[in-house]
Amino acid sequence: MDIKKAVIPVAGKGTRFLPATKQLPKEMLPIINTPMIHYVVEEAVNSGIEQLIFVTSSGKEAIENYFDRNIELEDFLKANNKEDYYQQIKKIGEMVEVISVRQKEQLGLGHAIACAEHIIGDEPFAVILGDDIIRAKEPATKQLIEISKKNNFSSVIGVMEVDPDKTDKYGIVAGKYIDDSKKTLKMTDMVEKPKPQDAPTNLATPGRYILSPSIFKYLKEIPRGAGGEFQLTDAIKYQCQKEDVFAHIFEGDRFDTGSIDGYLDATVEFALRDSATKDMMIKIIKDKMARYEISL
Ligand code: UTP
Repeated sequence: MDIKKAVIPVAGKGTRFLPATKQLPKEMLPIINTPMIHYVVEEAVNSGIEQLIFVTSSGKEAIENYFDRNIELEDFLKANNKEDYYQQIKKIGEMVEVISVRQKEQLGLGHAIACAEHIIGDEPFAVILGDDIIRAKEPATKQLIEISKKNNFSSVIGVMEVDPDKTDKYGIVAGKYIDDSKKTLKMTDMVEKPKPQDAPTNLATPGRYILSPSIFKYLKEIPRGAGGEFQLTDAIKYQCQKEDVFAHIFEGDRFDTGSIDGYLDATVEFALRDSATKDMMIKIIKDKMARYEISL
């Protein structure tokens, strides 16, 4: 057994990015010149995933097209001696096998994952949120796959430490560390957006999961949760009460690019980390600070 399939839910409405998302999938918004979904798919491929299942909705066709070949564009780039662009575009179209399933009504992340059951079948799989980028030496999903493999292919929830004052913005896990390295916990509970004084830990769940297939059973049992949606966190809560579920603190920098502040953060950070754009970004920031008389 191995973990070779990943579900990437991209069916959400992306209301925080309206009006852009009236016509454009949020996941196609670029960080500089690369759509955020590209980074997510790259993480999956570099984690050994061979089959991707996009959970989509009406208007999200641009995502499927992005990962398909575009022969007309390739021919144009070749004919105009733009070899670097040609290779780049061809490579994206050959990155991975993609399957799409529709989520006909946007009833939440839990509901979106349930839409992929008939393709996943009876094997453990990864879930990677399509609007959440993690930059890491070893891909975050790969780190979680390793922990799942060591623990009989149990579910493993990726977690990160957050400021204890901000627990009310996240799903927070409870559990006991399994060894002295204090990186992996056996989960006992999951609490949605607890107030700091009620939070069992400061370990939050951004958007990386390895799930054992029994999750589909729990997804059918959960009632509608916060916001009238079927929440994946509720199904994980049920699962950890009945079987071994682990939480693992992954290494890496996470950007919540589905929110405006996370999107801005990623844009500045990625520009500063790339030698092609670093000096441009520094100059822009310096000039703006001078123009608006901002001092730190
Ligand atoms: P978000 O919570 O960011 O929701 O979903 P959203 O609808 O995309 O954005 P806002 O809150 O309206 O601005 C996290 C991920 O789960 C997917 C989204 O596409 C996003 O990648 N999702 C969410 C679904 O696929 N289906 C849903 O019903 C909800």
